[in-house]
Amino acid sequence: MAKLYVNPKVKRGRINPELQGHFSEHLGRCIYEGIYVGENSDIPNVNGMRTDVVEALKEIRVPVLRWPGGCFADEYHWKDGIGPKEKRKKMINTHWGGVVEDNSFGTHEFMELCRQLGCKTYINGNVGSGTVQEMSEWVEYMTFDGVSPMADMRAQNGHKDPWTVDYFGVGNENWGCGGNMRPEYYGDLYRRYQTYVRNYDSRKSISKIACGANAADYHWTEKVLETVFDHGSGFMNGLSLHYYTLPTGNWGKKGSALEYDEKEYYRTLKQTLKMEELIRRHGAIMDQFDPEKKIGMIIDEWGTWYDVEPGTNPGFLYQQSTMRDALVAGINLNLFNKHCDRVKMANIAQMVNVLQAVILTEGEKMVKTPTWHAFDLYKHHQGGELVESSIETKEAGLEAGYMVPNLTESVSMSEDGKLHATLTNLSLEEAADIQAVFADCGVKDVRGTILTGGMREHNTFDAPDEVHTRDFAAQITADGSVAFKLPPCSVVHLEIALV
Ligand code: AHR
Repeated sequence: MAKLYVNPKVKRGRINPELQGHFSEHLGRCIYEGIYVGENSDIPNVNGMRTDVVEALKEIRVPVLRWPGGCFADEYHWKDGIGPKEKRKKMINTHWGGVVEDNSFGTHEFMELCRQLGCKTYINGNVGSGTVQEMSEWVEYMTFDGVSPMADMRAQNGHKDPWTVDYFGVGNENWGCGGNMRPEYYGDLYRRYQTYVRNYDSRKSISKIACGANAADYHWTEKVLETVFDHGSGFMNGLSLHYYTLPTGNWGKKGSALEYDEKEYYRTLKQTLKMEELIRRHGAIMDQFDPEKKIGMIIDEWGTWYDVEPGTNPGFLYQQSTMRDALVAGINLNLFNKHCDRVKMANIAQMVNVLQAVILTEGEKMVKTPTWHAFDLYKHHQGGELVESSIETKEAGLEAGYMVPNLTESVSMSEDGKLHATLTNLSLEEAADIQAVFADCGVKDVRGTILTGGMREHNTFDAPDEVHTRDFAAQITADGSVAFKLPPCSVVHLEIALV
């Protein structure tokens, strides 16, 4: 019997709802078809946003959405995406499939989408190929309330009132697709560009996010902070980190989303678990500059990246999502919770039809992936207080070098005083008998919901409900603990009322 120790009296910090954030890029069928179908589409929509997708996203309480990229952000010129649609410039999306981008989804449409979702806005600006003036004017266009050239233009385009920009990214992957820069050079550019990301709204300042490292590039983190930090408060509020899970760890042949064996399953999870070391080591560098943890680590791209589905455009990054992905999501979301003192936002890549999507669409059809269901289980942590907890684990796996702990967990307390525990059982072979013990408190009630299945199980357009959550039984024992048996390959949420 593995023990889960919970000490509800020891709080470890607030779990920002943004830890369950999303990312949507002009890439493949994420924006077009996946989210935006236009007002004249036969697919039911509100102001062009498909209703089925918006409703499914509202269910998991999307807290924040990042847009327009990704690599696309550093090629995006926002003025191409405003004004009458028929007059908007068409361009080639050189990064992603070489398709025509007609700019029918632009700033107004993004803000409308966030309004419908009720989520915060995270705009990623263009440093790689854009000017300081362009970035500055975009911020003015979106947020200035008064008489100014950009505010007037916004009004002419049908939106008199300013919008709120919660987060603004100053460039994306500027070590790579965003300009192939050295960290010192990017750091200098960051200092310059961010100066003109003005706070026009006295009630709500924009959180500015600097481009951070790719995976284990600690040099980038150190040099950017050396160049950028220490310039007064408001200079930067966040530093990003990107890390993708590739089953093979090899960009050439990443591995298939559906065709994999048990060994590859464990290898994938092993790759995912590296996130912990990345958070710790980048966090340790951030601590040297910012011991009070005022700057958030913003993991604004994470998730699985497989070979594209056979027969699909390689530039569209379309992949299926199985129970393995639900576990990847569960592991990561538990880790983000555990490090909520430093990690302030994380955005899964990407929301619809791209990489580890929570939703897939095909014409008018839509399915919720196992990853969607994992987010549905974890949504109860949003805004809660992380509670001290730990679990006894043993190794699971089939090969030396690729063994993983069988269990991961995190526990939070919501405003109403209830505890929310989420656990993953990574083992494919063994159920885990768990006893949850609570320091100095008894348990009044416990309710569980579980997502479990074979490692390759997934939802398709013909069978959209193969993988779904079910009620899960846990018993309150005579000594006031909670006992339950977690089946192999599962993700569970327990809601616990204490006495
Ligand atoms: O999410 C797909 C791409 O991955 C993004 O455009 C880029 O930032 C990253 O390399």
